Amino acid sequence: MKYRHQFLALIAILSLLGLGMAFTRPGQQPQPAHPQNLKVLPKDIDHASLIKIMHDFSDALGFRCTNCHVTTSNGDMDFASDAKPEKREAREMMRMMKKINRKYFGVKGNFVDVYMNAKITCYSCHHGQAQPAVAATHPERQGQFPPPPPPPHNP
Ligand code: HEC
Ligand code: HEC
Repeated sequence: MKYRHQFLALIAILSLLGLGMAFTRPGQQPQPAHPQNLKVLPKDIDHASLIKIMHDFSDALGFRCTNCHVTTSNGDMDFASDAKPEKREAREMMRMMKKINRKYFGVKGNFVDVYMNAKITCYSCHHGQAQPAVAATHPERQGQFPPPPPPPHNP
């Protein structure tokens, strides 16, 4: 019992230290540039959530960041620019995805809340392709049915 109390005290001290460090961090570490041009994502989105969602978009479509975002002549990325049609289409898709989840699956909240609890995501339709398939190919059914009868033999 005695050790248990000491252990709990140690945990408490460590948590306080951790908390202290969490509060001093912003001053010490430069934060990434604040997003300039968000129309669907919440403007106060944290950097980790933004980057997670962007990686998910890329994976869902089999895209790289540069499929939707502009590279400037000196090789830098201009993530805020809406010059690429793929980015503008992606934004419409975000609105659609949010609406489907809210209206038909009862998922509540802003885009990030909906996204984190989504029943339908970009991947549900895209499966790693820019153009979603509209029909199944059923390769697993091949061989399951007997082959069609040979054509009638005409002597
Ligand atoms: C399928 C298209 C698509 C892909 C791929 C994509 N993004 Fe985005 N990105 C968007 C859209 C759309 C927005 C704007 C969202 C909004 O309006 O709320 C955005 C916004 C951003 C922003 C905020 C820009 C600003 O200042 O407003 C950053 C940063 C960003 N993306 C980084 C990335 C990175 C890094 C990758 C690759 C890992 C990536 N994106 C891949 C579509 C995409
Ligand atoms: C309900 C199904 C569905 C969902 C969910 C969906 N998409 Fe799509 N998306 C489509 C279809 C279908 C097309 C092709 C439209 C066409 O050919 O006119 C498409 C096309 C696109 C394109 C244009 C691709 C190209 O190169 O032509 C982008 C970019 C895109 N979607 C991004 C997204 C993103 C990002 C999400 C998630 C936020 C998403 N989509 C969610 C069905 C969906």
